[in-house]
Amino acid sequence: MSVISTGDGSPTVFSEQYGVTYHSRHGAVTESAHVFITAGLRYKAVLRRELSVLEAGFGTGLNAFMTWLEAERRNLRVHYTGLELYPIPDSALEQLQYAEQLGAAERQEDFQRLHQLDWEQSFDLSDNFRFEKKRSSIEHFQAAEQFDIIYFDAFAPQAQPELWTPEVMAAMYAALRPEGVLVTYCAQGEFKRSLRAAGFSVERLQGPPGKREMTRATK
Ligand SMILES: C[S@@+](CC[C@H](N)C(=O)[O-])C[C@H]1O[C@@H](n2cnc3c(N)ncnc32)[C@H](O)[C@@H]1O
Repeated sequence: MSVISTGDGSPTVFSEQYGVTYHSRHGAVTESAHVFITAGLRYKAVLRRELSVLEAGFGTGLNAFMTWLEAERRNLRVHYTGLELYPIPDSALEQLQYAEQLGAAERQEDFQRLHQLDWEQSFDLSDNFRFEKKRSSIEHFQAAEQFDIIYFDAFAPQAQPELWTPEVMAAMYAALRPEGVLVTYCAQGEFKRSLRAAGFSVERLQGPPGKREMTRATK
């Protein structure tokens, strides 16, 4: 694993195993803000202040950290669950100075805390943010109507076809509450057919820089 800089100046991790980066090379923070915070969290926060979020692929923790900061800014109450099978090593974590990138340099320790906390336990990190990491595989995760939002952020279908299947999308559908949404940077046709087969209504939205489209799917 190595850490590289992306188009907006924020860093991301390159996975040697899968031959892909954890975020868009056009801008890691920009992509997370566009796909997950704006199209997912802010979209749902218009109607509800208490939201539960599932992230499939916790990775660097950037989406989780940005969600925490956004929950505080908007005074939301977010219960966040991140799934991850292969945590990033400390050597990579030390190079991810996301707090400064996000204009919250004093919060870098909070960002690191997300990685240091024990697995399979829930922590109230502030009045606005309850956080839990699960060392579970995305393809075997099962939950019943627990989440309002899923950030589906696995590596792309070319790298991990087994995570974008009709079966996994059916499990994601089951995990969402009615009206819940799944957001992802991926807009591949076969993936969208899997979403529809699972019962989702599928929207095409404008993608982040470097990508024409992204997807939001509603239960
Ligand atoms: C695109 S990266 C996630 C980026 C992350 N959301 C972030 O903000 O940094 C995909 C993540 O999925 C994890 N992953 C890959 N296969 C997985 C599996 N079968 N189950 C759970 N996590 C998996 C990888 O280790 C990686 O951290």
